[in-house]
Amino acid sequence: MRIRNLTALGASAALVFSVAGCAGGGAGSGDDGGGDEAPEDMSVGVAMPTQTYERWLKDGDNIEAGLEDLGYDVELQYADDDIPTQSQQIDQMITQGVDALIVAAIDGSALTAQLDAAEAADIPVISYDRLLTDSENVDFYVTFDNYNVGVNQANALLYGLGILDQDFEPAEDAPEDPLNIELFAGSLDDSNSHHFWDGAIDTLQPYLDDGTLQVPSGQTDIEQAATQRWEQETAQTRMENLLTTHYNAGEQIDGVLAPADPLSRGIITALRSDGRGETIEDGLPIVTGQDAEIASVKLIADGVQHSTIFKDTRDLADQAVEAADTYLQGGEPEPNDTETYDNGAKVVPSYLLEVQMVLEENYEEILVDSGYYTEEQVDSGQM
Ligand code: BGC
Repeated sequence: MRIRNLTALGASAALVFSVAGCAGGGAGSGDDGGGDEAPEDMSVGVAMPTQTYERWLKDGDNIEAGLEDLGYDVELQYADDDIPTQSQQIDQMITQGVDALIVAAIDGSALTAQLDAAEAADIPVISYDRLLTDSENVDFYVTFDNYNVGVNQANALLYGLGILDQDFEPAEDAPEDPLNIELFAGSLDDSNSHHFWDGAIDTLQPYLDDGTLQVPSGQTDIEQAATQRWEQETAQTRMENLLTTHYNAGEQIDGVLAPADPLSRGIITALRSDGRGETIEDGLPIVTGQDAEIASVKLIADGVQHSTIFKDTRDLADQAVEAADTYLQGGEPEPNDTETYDNGAKVVPSYLLEVQMVLEENYEEILVDSGYYTEEQVDSGQM
């Protein structure tokens, strides 16, 4: 358990007082619902899914730093992609009396009991990046435009295949013969996987319909393309099996829709081992990605992975911190989308951030000039 008591930061943040505290009267916090509490008397529980994806480490660190800057104590927990562990961690946070919760779920539908307990204890719940489903007791959702992530992944694939030009218009010198692609999706229990998939498939469908693209495996349903728990090894094994089963007679594979960088790297490993080229220049298929993980940005700079999608998790963490702080000050955070995210029990008011496509020709501008990575990090592929 990691609840930090900040003295130095707390002093500077002591100017920020909680005005109403009504939404933040967590169980055991000593708040009867009406009293004023300073941030340094309040804590926020932050539940993150896993440390195996680089992004969640950054998300956790940034949320923690942002909350601590305001004076709050923070309890940050990672659950190793294990659902019972995450449920238990949140149970403990509630028992311990956190005043607000920020949750990035492993399985969005598996936490309804915890959400009920949070509601009973008057703890506002912010769903972080992944939607918490099947419960009324989700107050706010901060995320990216997930459908647009998929649209961008598909457009990157179409561009890499030469079907679209650099303005994402139909290319004049588009290939005449049909191109072969395979499709990968994320974990089915993560609502994002479905939005990414819908955005990508809606964009690819016209090219599948008119025969510009074909999927030799025939695996075009999300259930067939899914990668349980977003595991790299699972994607690599599926790619190996696809190559053995559908491409063993000299068939060309031109591209792969991959929904996240670790999966892209697993897929690239399988393609390379099968002798499909070391770089795009010498024949490696076009592989998409997401998250702009440092190892993948290096592969993009080296002409190996074709693209990724940059989602600035610094901004997402800021939004979560702001939403939590607003609740704890007795206010209501302002959504910019009140239609898209129906969680099965209600439409959750959401704040969506924009995403950017990253390619070899723009990674420096988007990722280095913005200070997200240094050139040295990109060169070494390490943080
Ligand atoms: C996130 C992605 C991430 C994936 C796997 C999704 O919910 O939106 O950024 O790559 O989970 O961790």
